[in-house]
Parts: sequence; structure tokens; C-alpha cells
Amino acid sequence: MSAPASAAPTQDELKTLVGRAALEYVVRGEIVGVGTGSTVNKFIDALATIKHEIKGAVSSSIASTERLRALGIEVFDSNAVDELAVYIDGADEIDGRGHMIKGGGAALTREKIVAAQSRRFVCIADASKRVEVLGAFPLPVEIIPMAARRLMRQFAAFGGLAQVREKDGLPLVTDNGQHILDVTGLKISDPLAFESEVNQWPGVVTVGVFAHQKAQVCLLATPEGVQTLRYD
Ligand code: 5RP
Repeated sequence: MSAPASAAPTQDELKTLVGRAALEYVVRGEIVGVGTGSTVNKFIDALATIKHEIKGAVSSSIASTERLRALGIEVFDSNAVDELAVYIDGADEIDGRGHMIKGGGAALTREKIVAAQSRRFVCIADASKRVEVLGAFPLPVEIIPMAARRLMRQFAAFGGLAQVREKDGLPLVTDNGQHILDVTGLKISDPLAFESEVNQWPGVVTVGVFAHQKAQVCLLATPEGVQTLRYD
């Protein structure tokens, strides 16, 4: 009798796999930039196993800070640190050049700040996140609440339908005290130009296109193992 075929890994198992694989990119003896989300949570759990080999972390959200501290990893203020060797974070979508959509966890502004402070962005994701053109995932945009209506009209002129993200029936409030628009119906074929354009709209805090702060490496978890994609 032949051995039963092993079941395909679940998405949660793929996230664990890629979270562990990211340890290879952590520079020992230094402070590491840490993103936000369910994949990053797996990375934080793995990071705890080498916590005595690093100085600590700069975190991109209150949620990640709490998880890091609960596991005994020191969290530094980003202003207390100059440059970070590496930033490790997930993505909602990543294209073939390392451009991403981020912000599904509403942490995009601090994520972009820590990414900008880092020499290298290592994206950790499961294979469902890899796309040809950004835009199938609703684009998160952190905004100043008083600009919501006008920004919704501006996105409509771009062919996008923007909605204020809610939590428990009320607008979600970010770690920075602002709101999030989620924009559907966009096809972002020139992410660099799109990010620059939307960043200029009054009331936009951060657009969730990460093209200027793109990934240099993507660790992509597939049922066959972790693939390393490089975008240098
Ligand atoms: C949070 C993010 C996350 O990195 C992104 O949403 C992916 O999250 P997950 O790993 O849970 O799929 O940008 O703002």
C-alpha cells in the first residue's frame, strides 16, 4: 500500500515557515526593524528564539510593540536609532519588482517610516500575495478625517471606490489617531508615479503603495518551500 499523500500546508503554516526563514536576514548584534501583521507575528515569535543575539527592535505598531515586549525583546523609539540594517514586514500584494500594497493591518504610516530608516526591506509573504499588477487588494490610505469626502471624490476620478474602514460600526482609528480609506477598483501599473501623485493630495497621511520604499528581497512561502526573490 502506498503512503498517504501529505496534506498541503495551511496558510498559517506557510506564515510560520516564512517567519522563521526571515531570521537569516537579521543582523546579529544590531537593532532590527519589525513590521506588523499575522505573518510578522510569526517572525516575532521566531525572533524571540534569538533575542540574546540582537540589541532589540524598532516597531511599526502598538500591536507589534506589545508582542515584542511580551517576549522579552527591547523596543527602541525610532528617533533613538539612526539607520537600521534591515526591516522585516509582510505585504498585502507584491509585484515582480518588489513594489507592494500594505496597510491591511492599518499600520502603513509607521511601516513606511521604519522602512525608510532601513537599508534593506525584506518582505515575508505567502504565495497568495504575489501579483502581476497591484490593485486587486483594496488600497489602504491613511487620511486626516476632515479630508475624507474630498479624497473619496479624488479617488473616484481615478476610477476607484473609496470607503472609510470601520471597526465595531465606527471609523477605525489608527495608532496615529487618523482614519483609513480602502480603495477598490484601481489597477496600479506605475506604482512609483501613483505613490508620488497620491502623496500630494491634501489630507493624505500615507498611501499604502510602497514603491519608493520597495522590498529588496521577498521571501515567498509556497507549498514547495520558501522562495527567495531579489529586486536589487
Ligand atoms: C499591516 C500590513 C501587513 O504587513 C499586511 O497587511 C500583511 O498582513 P498579514 O501578514 O496579516 O497578511 O501592511 O499594516
